[in-house]
Amino acid sequence: MKQSLRIKRGSEADALYYVYEVDLPAGSTVLDALEYIRTGSVPDLMYRHSCHHGSCGTCTVRINGKECLACLTKLEDFTGTVPTIEPLAAFPVEKDLVVDPGPLFRHLPKDGTKLRASEWSGGSITREPIPDANQARPGGIDHFVRFEDCIECGACVSACPVTRKTWTDESININAFIGPAALAAINREAENCPERKNEMLTLAGQPNGVAACEKHFECSRVCPRMVYPGKHIEQLRKLISFSG
Ligand code: SF4
Ligand code: FES
Repeated sequence: MKQSLRIKRGSEADALYYVYEVDLPAGSTVLDALEYIRTGSVPDLMYRHSCHHGSCGTCTVRINGKECLACLTKLEDFTGTVPTIEPLAAFPVEKDLVVDPGPLFRHLPKDGTKLRASEWSGGSITREPIPDANQARPGGIDHFVRFEDCIECGACVSACPVTRKTWTDESININAFIGPAALAAINREAENCPERKNEMLTLAGQPNGVAACEKHFECSRVCPRMVYPGKHIEQLRKLISFSG
């Protein structure tokens, strides 16, 4: 199938839109199209990717203004149109479709419960590494608990009107709204580790926490992993008001 794509290229200051045509098998994704273009005529096209199956969160872009994982978005969705592919909003653009995800990571709670250290639920929940991670577990998958759905893709931060407004180019304005991904992580940490609940509520209760959220709920609409950050923010809002 042939498909044209309009891609924003360059840095934020000098970006231009270029149209490229790809010819790929049915079922191909937007990420396949970007790789087709880069390995063909445009070797300096920049974008991020790793897993190709919706797990690593690195390939997030905006397609026709909506945040999507390029590796899970089918080209067929755009048959007969020329979709516009742009980098995430709110983050500083490095080049083309690559943004600096640093501001997202800097706002996540420190020392959060680690997925791999805590997913074995055969005994008590622990932050320590599993002693023998390779050992087969009786009961198989039933003995594992998934603590973490967020893949830190940045879609919610890009879609949120508040982070778009307050995360500037130089960006790491520590007083700016910490954003939906960080608040979802704070709420999860409060749920998973009751001994850290007060610490987490103090974090969420700062002026740049829950209070800065304007309840647009774009975060929950775009999240590709159904984390529903808006729901976490509202849970935190209730906990803070009860604890105050
Ligand atoms: S909460 Fe959802 S949209 Fe936000 S960073 Fe995590 S996975 Fe991505
Ligand atoms: S390449 Fe990993 S989520 Fe798309």
